[in-house]
Amino acid sequence: MSQSTTNKGLAERRAESFASCYASVFNCYVDKAKGALIWDVEGREYIDFAGGIGGMNVGHSHPKVVSAIKDQAERFTHTCLMVAPYGSAVQLAEKLCKAAPGDEPKAVAYVTSGAEAVENAVKIARVYTGRTGVVTLANGYHGRTMLTMAMTGRVAPFKAGFGPFAPEVYPVGSPYCYRCPIGKSYPDCGAACADLLSELFVKVVAAESIACMVMEPVMGEGGFIVPPKEYVKKVKKICEENGILFVSDEIQSGIARTGKMFAIEHFDVIPDIITTAKSLAAGMPISAVVGSKKIMDSVHPGGVGGTYSGNPLSCAAGLAVFDILESEDLFSRADIIGEKTKTCFESLQKSFPVIGDVRGLSGMMAMELVHDKETKAPAPELARAIVSHCFENGLLMLATGTYGNVLRILSPLVITDEQLDSGLDIVEKAFAAVCK
Ligand SMILES: Cc1ncc(COP(=O)(O)O)c(C=O)c1O
Repeated sequence: MSQSTTNKGLAERRAESFASCYASVFNCYVDKAKGALIWDVEGREYIDFAGGIGGMNVGHSHPKVVSAIKDQAERFTHTCLMVAPYGSAVQLAEKLCKAAPGDEPKAVAYVTSGAEAVENAVKIARVYTGRTGVVTLANGYHGRTMLTMAMTGRVAPFKAGFGPFAPEVYPVGSPYCYRCPIGKSYPDCGAACADLLSELFVKVVAAESIACMVMEPVMGEGGFIVPPKEYVKKVKKICEENGILFVSDEIQSGIARTGKMFAIEHFDVIPDIITTAKSLAAGMPISAVVGSKKIMDSVHPGGVGGTYSGNPLSCAAGLAVFDILESEDLFSRADIIGEKTKTCFESLQKSFPVIGDVRGLSGMMAMELVHDKETKAPAPELARAIVSHCFENGLLMLATGTYGNVLRILSPLVITDEQLDSGLDIVEKAFAAVCK
């Protein structure tokens, strides 16, 4: 095998040309991928529980996405939406406006990455409110740009050495029931941690200077933390009472991942702004800020944009994604995948005391590993060992969480029952081998 067709050969060449700051979890160089399967350059097959970190809800190389991209590429690949626009961008915006919860008229602004969408949501909220402050959750993740790093609650590897960070960002304790920030237990607590927001306005910053609160309805990189519904409702109410916009960062949790188009729909609140990316266009680069039209239209023309924003190939892929979500009912499929995974994780939890918590929402399921169920000391090295054992046995699964000790499933929603069962079987065997 020539050097460029082996994983080892490519890794050696990569070591010369890639900066070491750019890391990859697995040493498997992809040759092709289809549905929920990936093949590396040596022909080894993997079941994909990572789904490109949530970018592949409709699966790899879905024929409708491939055909939409091919057709578009033959017509044109880039004119710049800010120069000469095209119909697919309008059609996709119409679909996003219709899909976003709430009866108010909506409008969309395209950018390219998830972090950019969050940055622009904050920019828009600042113009609309005339205020500067941003409240975030202490375990949230919003990206790697200067502002979104400041909004992210994890130092290594995301923030270490990169400061100073953008000012006017105020984190509050997260509704992380397994590690309650105020030492209480749900449901007896009545979601008392929502009061941390009111306390912030007494102790740290005036509510009148806060433009928006940005939160993920299910914290992704934070470890698939699902807030109680009462928490989200309470926080939204506090925001409303204080003229603060509520931004739902759905970059990981959106596009049917939790059985609904947007995860915030589970919580009976209507956000002012939603950010979406990743699975919106099956991993093609595009992100969008979707919000109430009066808020979105408060910004001057030209205030938001970017050379690649609303790229035509991505818009074509996005339209195919909307079609696939409906025609293959991936909403119900997310729920079925979630149930199956939860049953498997809960049964593993009975056999392996290292599994401190099993949690999630629909197709976003996870388990948190600890050394001791009393102290809850995080066990990131065990999570890494399980991930590595799974990889050796043909499964790509990712660890996440503020402490790096959470195993999560973000498989394409088109995964077959057989593939899901085989993947879960590999996870089970990894626990048996690693936690003997
Ligand atoms: C909730 C959330 N927000 C923002 C981002 C940043 O997206 P991107 O990596 O496209 O900048 C991510 C990425 O994982 C995310 O999960």
